Amino acid sequence: MQTFIETQFPIARLSAESYKERKAGASQTLTGLGKWWGRKPLVLVRASIIGMLMPASNDAKRDREIFLKILTMDDDGTWQRCKGEIPASAWREAASPEIQEEFFGARSFIQGMSDEEKAAVCAQIWEALSSEEQLALDALRMRPISDRAEFETLSYAERLVHCERPENIAGPTPAAWGEINSHLGTTASNLPELVQQLGQRTFGHTPRVGDSFCGGGSIPFEAARIGCEAFGSDLNPVAGLLTWASLNLLGGDAALQAEVARVQQQTYTAADQQITDWGIEHNDRGERAEAFLYCVEVKPEGCDYYIPIAPSWVVSEKYRIVTRWTRVGDADRLQPEVLEVSEKEFRLYKDKKGSTMSDGRVVDPLDPARTWSVEALRGTDGLRRWSNEDVVSRANDVFQERLYCIRWSKTVMLNNRPKLVRRFSAPDSSDMARESRVLNLLLERFTGWQNKGFIPSMGIPEGGDETARLYRERGWTHWHQLYTPRQLLAYGCILENSAIASTKEVRVAMLLKLGVQANWSSKLCIWNADKSKGPGSTEQTFANQALNTLFNFGTRSFWQLRESLVKEFTFVEISNHQNKIEVIDARDLSNSCDLWITDPPYADAVNYHELGDFFLAWYEKQIRKDFSEWVPDARAELAVRGDGDDFRRSMVDIYKNLARHMPYNGLQMVMFTHQDPAVWADLGMILWAAGLKATAAWTISTETSAGIKKGNYVQGTVCLVLRKRAANEPGFLDEVYPLVEDEVKRQIASMQALDESGEPNFNDADYQLAAYAAALKVLTHYGTLDGKDVEHEVFSVRGKGEKSDFQTVIERALGIACDTLIPRGLDASWRDLSLVERYYLRSLDIESRGERRKGMYEELARGFGVSDIRPLLKSDKANGARMFTPSGLAASTLIAVTTGNSGASGQLGSQNTSGARGRASANGPHPFATSPLRHLMFAIRETTSADNSPEPGRQYLRDTFGQGYWTKREGFVALLEWLSALGNTADMGEWQADSEAARILAGRLRNDHA
Ligand SMILES: C[S@@+](CC[C@H](N)C(=O)[O-])C[C@H]1O[C@@H](n2cnc3c(N)ncnc32)[C@H](O)[C@@H]1O
Repeated sequence: MQTFIETQFPIARLSAESYKERKAGASQTLTGLGKWWGRKPLVLVRASIIGMLMPASNDAKRDREIFLKILTMDDDGTWQRCKGEIPASAWREAASPEIQEEFFGARSFIQGMSDEEKAAVCAQIWEALSSEEQLALDALRMRPISDRAEFETLSYAERLVHCERPENIAGPTPAAWGEINSHLGTTASNLPELVQQLGQRTFGHTPRVGDSFCGGGSIPFEAARIGCEAFGSDLNPVAGLLTWASLNLLGGDAALQAEVARVQQQTYTAADQQITDWGIEHNDRGERAEAFLYCVEVKPEGCDYYIPIAPSWVVSEKYRIVTRWTRVGDADRLQPEVLEVSEKEFRLYKDKKGSTMSDGRVVDPLDPARTWSVEALRGTDGLRRWSNEDVVSRANDVFQERLYCIRWSKTVMLNNRPKLVRRFSAPDSSDMARESRVLNLLLERFTGWQNKGFIPSMGIPEGGDETARLYRERGWTHWHQLYTPRQLLAYGCILENSAIASTKEVRVAMLLKLGVQANWSSKLCIWNADKSKGPGSTEQTFANQALNTLFNFGTRSFWQLRESLVKEFTFVEISNHQNKIEVIDARDLSNSCDLWITDPPYADAVNYHELGDFFLAWYEKQIRKDFSEWVPDARAELAVRGDGDDFRRSMVDIYKNLARHMPYNGLQMVMFTHQDPAVWADLGMILWAAGLKATAAWTISTETSAGIKKGNYVQGTVCLVLRKRAANEPGFLDEVYPLVEDEVKRQIASMQALDESGEPNFNDADYQLAAYAAALKVLTHYGTLDGKDVEHEVFSVRGKGEKSDFQTVIERALGIACDTLIPRGLDASWRDLSLVERYYLRSLDIESRGERRKGMYEELARGFGVSDIRPLLKSDKANGARMFTPSGLAASTLIAVTTGNSGASGQLGSQNTSGARGRASANGPHPFATSPLRHLMFAIRETTSADNSPEPGRQYLRDTFGQGYWTKREGFVALLEWLSALGNTADMGEWQADSEAARILAGRLRNDHA
């Protein structure tokens, strides 16, 4: 029996919902537990599970309506979710004076804050309120559109702006359940009941959903929330911990929630008292430190003072604070001066005035003509490698670290109201004495704390893609060296005080809280002085998916972490507590599941095993105690990565294992995003060799429409639905091709239909991916192809440039897709164009829709079989690709039409569409050079050059094509009309003059007579 997801999936609505969830930033349900890379949207997981459980009936339309009802994504559901926003003024009212001061003007948010930043501030305000205060604030929501009819005139994405996420409301109404039950023959009144009944019907029990690459836990968590038995496993213990916590901590009962809150509060109070007693964050002006800014300094040979290094010395844009360096006498340390400057002077600092790091060279601030390469400063043998005992650099190390600025604050009474007053200053002698005290306090505790796991003791693995940088650029060999003594002292103090936790759940809660702090305050945190960050703030360590060392960085004081430390977790109701989390290589798991939903690290750029160690260093000792069955090691050697032979082998083994651990009527979903056809072919062959067949593929786009316009879209996620392949029917290439062609066309037509209804707006990458997926659907039904065994094919050694049959079919699918996607308005002329002409026009088409990624132009070239696109690309920057305009091309790549290369007769395009390829070979000119389109472009250029007189252009065409001109004339007019519209498209300003010329030339040709 087919399931809903094997027949249809509401990709447009789901794309909008997924995007809304991702945009919620810090207020996403699971992100509060800690960082993991590539988390999947919960709404997508929910829809996938329901879609895999719900049977398809003969009435596709009604199936869709019911499916949307279950997810509250139908008209009633969205209206039910339309609760409106809490006005910014109400958020301001509810905020603490500090937050008001930092993020609000008189009524609303300060200018320049992004939606994500606003959402994070709102989440912070919300968490600090009592339940009654939250209710009162929630009551201030105003349905921005009070009339339902008016609401329903909005597009789905527009509606969602005013809607809660499905996970945050109670679910379908009783009336909706009536309709759902009558269609499905169920008796449910909530999601878990429905899930239970559908599972019972197909599998004879509550469905078991598993994810063998569970990462941050989205899949097991959502499965358990909606009533499935959940299984999650990952090789990485940090992922194991996050997933375990999503189910057992966030899903904890009221007693656990209260205990977590109590321990959080007590820990904070005790640590705060300790830090106050130590006197390391307070000064004698009654102020408390919020942030400490540090930089690296170096004394190059020939320079008799240390040079503090930073690419920018801006401290706070909001207060116009900068740091300036001077030398007093012949001291070998420069003196920082932290001061407020004029608007004009501040602009200069923003433009890198005084910068001591430029293009990999250290610049002397007192004599900017003197510079030294960082590479050379590190020396030919590299830096000294730190030992575990090193918490700061030694006196003779090349790079030293120093404190250069402290941000202080205190609350004063002004007109009977508390007001937060801030001050930025360079450290004075008592500040430096406090720094020494911090170091001594830490050293006194260092060994004991390492033994107890209150601070990291783990070494940094050598030779990793990310970790090698830490060795090379700083000499760091242990994870604790990524923190200042001040940070280690504060974090150790927090963990020591949180030892009051008496249960595993609470201990995990406190550990994960610490991990969150570590992400937001380590020596790898960029100091962001921007106004949108209030007085300035640290970025997270993992602002990108890398471990980057910094020459200057910001750190937060313990005091600054206080809100985050006591912030409540987002507790949720989990319906099914039958769950199991394992830390295990996916090849070795032995748990059976009815549905496997996985998001594998295929050809992934994220080095999970290396990045995860940043957190594991803090969790390792506790994991040993509380999860003794887990191996507290990232086991880098087992991690699936890259795209070579090892990758393929491990993936085949893993998916064979998953197929072994599912029933015959079970289903799998594999989610992935990669766009390279080689990876697609690989993944297809892997799944095929694992004994699976694809039954459907859907692309969910998780990007904004604004993003699409800017051309910087994140690609869609492809959800491939698979079953076990029962029979191993033989397939033959000549039979397969027409089937692939039909499937690709069908898939594209269904996406186009959705595009036309105005909802999702797929980009070219989505169409290409859909084409690949369609090819997989056809191919994986067979056991062999032209007598060749798939597994043998996956691992057979190929020469450079040699392709498997599989890859050829996949690429052919792309060709079909390219040819099916005709730019709007060119349908009539398309058939008559050569491949290279089609390529040029399709490239212009994607350019006019904001696409700038060079990879997309190359992918198109593959689809049209054009081997050399360089002569056609005006710019081939990775993210700034553009095609030449007619005037831009001028007379280049233009070859006169002769009988030999005759474009002068017959159809508009001279080449046979399956023949000439765009290759500028040594043997002949680039095929575009002789194409009629190229000559037409030259005629446009002639028109532009003649101040829009069409005569020279028309004459050129007549001379070039002779009698052939008359047969081509109509086709020319159609092309000119299409090109004439380009100049009016946003961001196609370069086309303005040529488009106008094309319009005029089209008019002239239309009225031309022999
Ligand atoms: C793309 S992520 C999954 C993200 C997850 N779906 C989420 O929503 O957070 C891939 C995961 O595969 C894990 N992994 C890599 N090699 C593995 C292996 N051999 N066995 C199990 N897990 C592995 C990585 O640790 C990583 O967490």
